[in-house]
Amino acid sequence: MAEPGHLVLVGMMGSGKTSAGRQVAAALGRPFVDSDEQVEAATGRTVREVFETDGEPAYRVLEREALVSALDGEEPSVVAAAGGVVLDAGNREALRRGATVVWLRARPEVLASRVTRGDHRPLLADDPLGTLTRLTEERRHLYEEVAHHVVDVDEMTSADVAARIVELAPG
Ligand code: S3P
Repeated sequence: MAEPGHLVLVGMMGSGKTSAGRQVAAALGRPFVDSDEQVEAATGRTVREVFETDGEPAYRVLEREALVSALDGEEPSVVAAAGGVVLDAGNREALRRGATVVWLRARPEVLASRVTRGDHRPLLADDPLGTLTRLTEERRHLYEEVAHHVVDVDEMTSADVAARIVELAPG
């Protein structure tokens, strides 16, 4: 039987991709890949530093390279994709074709309650709730386009989200 492919978690900042992804990877005995960690390992700089010194477009190139690298991996993995990965049409095509995609969906108020001001996310420097509300509306249709499954995480613990994703995992 063909090996099931990669399991990729998509969703907004604060939706719990990394925390749930780590638990899912452990439960399935698969490698875990975090997109931003890949960027930071490749550049030796934080995401914030890349944004501040090179700008968002340059960061998006690195983000795409991290996703392509993860999807090219031989061993089926659990991938926490960065929140903006769906902005690029090529990324959306690669996700649809090369993985099982689970969208961790949350209301902006819940996201805002989970991100801490001034953390590693430069886009949230000012007015996190306003930014998360705007981006959620702008990106909703993009997440819908790539998702094979949707998990509404507002009322769920990270462990519950992970357990639900394990149920959805292929193979
Ligand atoms: C971003 C999400 C962040 C990070 C960067 C931009 C976005 O990753 O890539 O701050 O545009 O939604 P997480 O989704 O892991 O927080």
